[in-house]
Amino acid sequence: MDVFRIEGPVRLSGTITVNGSKNASLPIMAAAVLAPGKSRLKGAPRLSDITVFAQLLEDIGCKVSTESDGTVSIDSTSIGKPVGEYDIVRKMRAGICILGPLLARVGRAQVSMPGGCAIGYRPVDIHLRGLRELGAQIRLENGYIVADAMRGLCGNEIFLGGPFGSTVLGTANVMMAATLAKGTTVIESAACEPEITDLANCLNTMGAKITGIGSPRLVIEGVKQLKPFDYQVIPDRIEGGTFMVAAAITKGCLHIRNCRLGDLMAVAALLRNIGVTVETENSGCIVACSGPVKPTDITTQPYPGFPTDLQAQFMALLALAEGNSIIIEKIFTDRFMHVAELARMAADLRKEGSAVIVSGVKKLIAAPVMASDLRASAALVLAGLAAEGTTVVNRVYHIDRGYEKIEERLNPVGAKIIRESD
Ligand code: EPZ
Repeated sequence: MDVFRIEGPVRLSGTITVNGSKNASLPIMAAAVLAPGKSRLKGAPRLSDITVFAQLLEDIGCKVSTESDGTVSIDSTSIGKPVGEYDIVRKMRAGICILGPLLARVGRAQVSMPGGCAIGYRPVDIHLRGLRELGAQIRLENGYIVADAMRGLCGNEIFLGGPFGSTVLGTANVMMAATLAKGTTVIESAACEPEITDLANCLNTMGAKITGIGSPRLVIEGVKQLKPFDYQVIPDRIEGGTFMVAAAITKGCLHIRNCRLGDLMAVAALLRNIGVTVETENSGCIVACSGPVKPTDITTQPYPGFPTDLQAQFMALLALAEGNSIIIEKIFTDRFMHVAELARMAADLRKEGSAVIVSGVKKLIAAPVMASDLRASAALVLAGLAAEGTTVVNRVYHIDRGYEKIEERLNPVGAKIIRESD
């Protein structure tokens, strides 16, 4: 397993480019199953999650290849085995979003229950409720979701809200299934994340009839058939937000290209409130910070609220603020694996249920730390950039799931990160 050795403190300065969105690419790859033929997804990031999803598609019978420019080609002409195997889905829980497309395309599916992960229990009850309301018969058998809709799916009015608000992949699953259902489906309390908007836009290029895109009320008029897509994925807003924090935590100045500030309004507003300069610039933004940041309060919420996927990164930043901040995690209430590791670097943190009180300290001290989930690991890298000394981040494969060769993109703007195999 690889480790990162990170020399700090450094000051980042220069231009860095954001890659295509992982969380838009995954459901769009699943959408290829809806239309027999060859689809092409341009701009997908080269990440292990994308590779694993490609394995899942090949396992069900698709032919998947990646062209030299990163374009992912998916030929879904024949779906021989509508089964999402445990061994694949357990590695990448987004595999659950193959369920809706398989039900719509072949009328049956078996997909492993995704199980939990480092950020806590990850139920799929709302996915299943939505698909049942489209007429699917669904039962659980030996850890698998066994679904059947041999008589086809029927449009319906579906409420997809849950105790934590909307569900991103649940909306993806039900929306994709509804595109080929008989009649019209209304999804109330749909997720409004940009990744869902991107998926809906892609589905409409395939011949789907979706309106209300970007709003919590989606209307999907079922059609008989869809055609393959040739689609360019949006930039990864979470990677963009992570680079914004990298500029702030190192008191640097980064020109972040291919970063849509419109997808990061809550994040930009919060950075400006704590004294970080954020300016729009052509295809991206310029983020700069010259002194310590002010403390603030953060509560994670469904889009357009503050994204849970940037909570850990902002905790690293606020650990160096001039005063006390409170971070409340409302989406994944256990998403705090990074707290103990940041505390090893002298961050002063106190966890109170699903909230963490962050008392700002003058400096962070380098230490060996353990990556746990994708975004917690990014937070440790950011802390290592600012900490005094050499931070060693273990289990870097967590970072590689969501950030393509992050050290090769941060080092040219001033980071000193060496990847070693331990
Ligand atoms: C997506 O996960 C993202 N993953 C996550 O990003 C992101 O953190 C999350 O949305 C929230 O924005 C991908 O897109 C691949 P949810 P998803 O269903 O769809 C509860 C990353 O770091 N819930 O929106 O699985 C759930 O437990 C990853 O890139 C139910 O109760 O998340 C959570 O509390 C991590 N029942 C809340 O809803 C359900 O059936 C939101 O989860 C489904 C979800």
